[in-house]
Amino acid sequence: MSKNIALRVEELLSKMTVREKIGQLNQPETPLPNELDAFFESVRKGEVGSILMSVGATAGNDKQGAISNDFYNEIQRIAVEESPNGIPVLFGRDVIHGHHTVYPIPLAMAASFNDKLVEECYSDIAQEASNESIHWTFTPMLDLARDPRWGRIIEGTGEDPYVGAQVAKAVVKGLQGDDLSQDGKIVACAKHYIGYGAAEGGRDYHRTEISDYSLFNYYLPAFRAAVKAGVKTVMSSFNDVNGQPVTSSSYYLDEVLRGKLGFDGFVVSDYDAIIQLKKQGVAADNATCAEFALNAGLDMDMHDKCYIDNLEKLIEDGKVSMETLDEAVRRVLTVKMEKGLFEKPYCERKEYNKEAHLKNAEEIALESMVLLKNDNNVLPLKKDATISLVGTYAQERRSHLGSWCIDGKEEDVKTLCDALREVSTGKVWYSKGTELGWDSSLVNSYAADVVVLALGESWSTTGEARAVSDISLPKEQIELIKKIKLSGKKMVGLVFCGRPIAMQEISQYLDAIIYCWHSGTKATDAAAKLLFGEVSPSGRLPATLPRLATHIPLYYNITSSGRPVDCYYNENPAKCYVDSIPTPCYPFGFGLTYTQFKYDDLKVDCDKISLEDIKNGKKFKVTVVLENIGDFDAKETVQLYLRTPVAKWMRPLRELKAYNKVFMKKGTSQVVTFEIGFDELGYYDPQGNYTLEKGIREIYVGENCLTENKIEITVC
Ligand code: BGC
Repeated sequence: MSKNIALRVEELLSKMTVREKIGQLNQPETPLPNELDAFFESVRKGEVGSILMSVGATAGNDKQGAISNDFYNEIQRIAVEESPNGIPVLFGRDVIHGHHTVYPIPLAMAASFNDKLVEECYSDIAQEASNESIHWTFTPMLDLARDPRWGRIIEGTGEDPYVGAQVAKAVVKGLQGDDLSQDGKIVACAKHYIGYGAAEGGRDYHRTEISDYSLFNYYLPAFRAAVKAGVKTVMSSFNDVNGQPVTSSSYYLDEVLRGKLGFDGFVVSDYDAIIQLKKQGVAADNATCAEFALNAGLDMDMHDKCYIDNLEKLIEDGKVSMETLDEAVRRVLTVKMEKGLFEKPYCERKEYNKEAHLKNAEEIALESMVLLKNDNNVLPLKKDATISLVGTYAQERRSHLGSWCIDGKEEDVKTLCDALREVSTGKVWYSKGTELGWDSSLVNSYAADVVVLALGESWSTTGEARAVSDISLPKEQIELIKKIKLSGKKMVGLVFCGRPIAMQEISQYLDAIIYCWHSGTKATDAAAKLLFGEVSPSGRLPATLPRLATHIPLYYNITSSGRPVDCYYNENPAKCYVDSIPTPCYPFGFGLTYTQFKYDDLKVDCDKISLEDIKNGKKFKVTVVLENIGDFDAKETVQLYLRTPVAKWMRPLRELKAYNKVFMKKGTSQVVTFEIGFDELGYYDPQGNYTLEKGIREIYVGENCLTENKIEITVC
């Protein structure tokens, strides 16, 4: 924070009444028409610090009104011209993976393994959002998730802390830029802090048990990265961790977030979370909820009015100190000043290049989709092939936009059928297909050269409060696949899903599969380009796809078991489940291309390095020679995994520590280099201290987490 801002904040703070201070911590939602007069009056009194620009507890699931700049500018005018100290209001909306242009769901964007492109997309998103009065958005969502039943897995980056950290940095940089006060930049919010993704059974809002060792090594790294990237706000999560609601936990909010991670922005509660402390059974009344939350370090109250209704009395009674209140207000005012709201409180529309945004949306959709299977090179399809296109998702628009898409329009999405017909020079026969009895799908498939099945799940089974108990594809779709198989034709499955699903059954019937996710406005254009080979697929799985729904949780970065079970890496069913093969259907980091890459000559530039040197910043180089030996130009994501076979605390069998996505023309080769040092070689002990030990490190470099391409180095 600049000195200037700090001084201005203190000056302002010294002029504010207690009521106005509390007002800065109050975030009501957009008023309904019948509430307008009263609402304007509270703005006039300085009782509204921020507005949540939506209505309802699960804005990602329900239709929201379009934004009117005139309306928000009028609110701002009242705040600036008529409230006692003229403090502008901070407007916040959930712009999770796109505003008008919709990009793939965040889980899919993580599959692109292209941080630079993710950053560019979020810069586009900030530009569109800031054009419509939005100063602040509640993204990135950084909840590590290992249970795909959880509907909100779509909003995060999957099962890996390193991917989470890379995406966190990219999103924060894209949204906030280097200077938040610039036009087109908005405040980011890292959420949901902390452990929300560990909800038991994938049941939304449920309890979590997270040891401190797991907390520091798995759940916190993405938040740590966001803080390091300068994220200005953090949203606390609904859940409890080990019996302690995060909303009222000074351990998680103050000690860990501010103390250990060094966060210096403000914390906003999740929607109504403060008042929910009563339901969670740690407070008996609203006043106690407010007391516990503010004293724990939670600065802004989203929606439930607990602060505005109770803090004055709590201050009078000495249950909350004036210093605590001032500190929270100071943090909020600082962010407002850093955003430049005092200089430019009103929204003015700026021209932006919509075509460029659509181009990025298509590019990231192309890079996010994952080719899982391609037996006998069924793909890419010939452009003049006759295609039997089957399945309801061939005519679907809304689901491609995914959950948490408030301002995108389904009319902007092409159906898959239209998108294929645009690229194809042959015939595309569409039939919805039924699982039983006669319909044209089977006849079409007999007569066609190839079948494309449009499979998936609806957006409305994903997102907040949308957990499912079974992550298999619906039975009807499996039956449809079986029926079409009777045609004897090669079958290509496009899977439009928001979460990882169980793949074994469908995998056995399909010759080729592209996992297309819910990929936004340009989803179907991207799918068509990949199908016809205009671009070679390059997405990689940020979350494991299990064989069976009953195998979850299944994630790659497990520690070794004492008896050599290690289910993820060991095919022997007798050593894990007696009734099924426990290994993933498609492991973390997996994804094929239309070409073939050869990895050769893995090297480290030294076989020993001293602990002291590493602590002093020395790095060593790992190199591998990569050759495109196939027939297509393509991108490969070279992945580097680490294993520390002996350490004080058990370390995972593999942990991703670096990746590099490279484009290579067919027939070319190049040396891919990684630099490894302090940040990669250590881990956190349960007290949150970063620990670096002497000993061997195994370094694996390859195309996914199962690679056996290994080299060792000793830290001495
Ligand atoms: C969600 C948050 C969201 C907030 C505001 C809550 O229900 O958990 O992710 O930002 O609502 O819409």
